[in-house]
Formats: sequence, C-alpha cells, structure tokens
Amino acid sequence: MREKNKMTQLQLAEKLGVSDKTILKWATAKGYPDITLLEPIAAAFRISVTELISGNTIYNANVSANMLRSKFSDPGNTEYLYTHPIFQDYTKGAEMSVIEIIKNRHSYRGKYKDDKVPREDLVTIMEAGLAAPSGCNKQTTSLICVDDCDVLRQIHAVIDPPIAETAPALICVLTQRIPAYRDKCFAVQDYSAAIENMLLAIEELGYRSCWYEGHITDDDRIGDKIAKILNVPEEYDLVCILPVGIAENEPIVPRKKKFDERAWFNSFNAQSK
Ligand SMILES: Cc1cc2nc3c(=O)[nH]c(=O)nc-3n(C[C@H](O)[C@H](O)[C@H](O)COP(=O)(O)O)c2cc1C
Repeated sequence: MREKNKMTQLQLAEKLGVSDKTILKWATAKGYPDITLLEPIAAAFRISVTELISGNTIYNANVSANMLRSKFSDPGNTEYLYTHPIFQDYTKGAEMSVIEIIKNRHSYRGKYKDDKVPREDLVTIMEAGLAAPSGCNKQTTSLICVDDCDVLRQIHAVIDPPIAETAPALICVLTQRIPAYRDKCFAVQDYSAAIENMLLAIEELGYRSCWYEGHITDDDRIGDKIAKILNVPEEYDLVCILPVGIAENEPIVPRKKKFDERAWFNSFNAQSK
C-alpha cells in the first residue's frame, strides 16, 4: 500500500512520527503497528480504518500467501491485527517489493521456531526455484524438501558440525552435470539461480534461510551422505541445503563493500551512479 501511494519507508515514518526501522519491521512482519496508529496510517493512505484492516484491495494480490484468508471477511474484529497470523502474512506479501525483499534477505544461522512450514509454502518456494533460468533450458536442478521429523533427524546425524538443526524443513538442491551445448555445462549457474530464487521466495513468505553449500561439499562429503539417506540416484549431486523456518532472532547483517568499489558506469573504476 505504501508503494502504491509512491511513498518511501522514510516518508511514511515521518508522517507517522515513527522511525523508518519501525516501518521496515512492519513490512517484514517482525512487528505490528500499535492500535493508536491505525487512524494515522489509514489517513496517510487516504483510506478508512475499515479498509486498512480488511485489506480488500489487496485481498488477492499475494498469491503465495496462504493462511486463513477468509477470516478477513470480518474486518470489524480488529483483534486479528494482533493475534492472527493472517495479518503477518498479509503484511508480508502486500508491502514488500522485489527490491525490498532482495535487500532484506540475509543469511540466517540462528535458531528457528517450532512452527511447521505449511506444504503450500514449501511448494511455492520450490516452484520459485524451478522457475529460474537455466542454460539452454536444460533444467539441471532438482529439489527434495524434507519436512518429516524422522528424516530430518537422520540428516542431522550426518552433519558435523551441526547446522540449522532446529529448522522445520530443509530443501536439498540436486544438480546433474548435463552439457548445455558442445562441452559447456551450466549446472552450477543453473542451481545458483534456482537457489537465489528460493531464498527470495523464503524471505517474501516471512521465513529465513541460509545457502549452505561450503559446509556440505567439503572433503567430508556430507552432501553425499545426505543424498544416500534420500535415495538420490548416482547421476545427481546434492550440492546445497536451504533450511526453511520462522527465525527466533534477527539475522546478523554482514558488511558489504560500497557500490562504487564494485560497480561502475561505462568503464572499470569510473564514476558510479
Ligand atoms: C556458494 C555459496 C556457498 C555458501 N556456503 C555457506 C556455508 O557452507 N555455510 C554458511 O554458513 N554460509 C554459506 N554461504 C552463505 C554466505 O556465507 C553468505 O551469503 C555471505 O556471508 C553473505 O551474507 P548474506 O547472505 O547475509 O548477504 C554460502 C553462500 C554461497 C553463495
């Protein structure tokens, strides 16, 4: 709604007298507006409080969201705003642009909450992975999502040192070294594109993850051990695992080099922006 009104997070923050960090928290469903702010928020978007709560105009916009939408047909019950997961879901999908999702994504290596990830969300995430481009459309990437506690336990038994032990789901990324043309194989590029798509979908749906590849493809070949547990045929390599779950904490945001240290216009190391 903020974007529809062509308003930046900072502009909205100023209008409401809150910090832009607070707006970001709302947009990423890490926090919710206080009830006393409903009127100012509605006023900022020139809509009524009822419209704000019912979210009618964006009711169908977030196709990936899944939680009990029908409950929203009762906009009079403002308690939903604070108690029902649907508001979290509605906020996530409706408020974040692709650029915001890209900028919000960070590797998360902390604990996950116990909440199971609905299959519908896992399918959405895997579909995002499979929708990625692939060299000569060879589609060399395949996926196995593990959300069964027993299988998760078997997998964690072979991961040493442990990673993502508390995640309720793990997406395992498989690749096949199929040549795209002549002797060129783009399998690495293919699965990398698929992984990034999935990381962004995970972020959009309000979960966290981390691209665990180094850890499982080292000399101890943890990926091969996981592949065995999952009955993966020999012609596939298991190269990465992506945990999926609701994070208990905030991710640690790593320092990134400045734009003009890595990107320029028209010539190497030339003027940027
Ligand atoms: C190919 C690749 C392999 C990675 N392997 C691991 C890994 O084994 N363990 C880990 O904790 N993070 C791993 N990461 C995540 C990076 O450490 C992380 O992306 C980087 O530190 C930047 O942080 P950010 O994702 O928050 O931007 C990997 C990332 C990539 C692209």
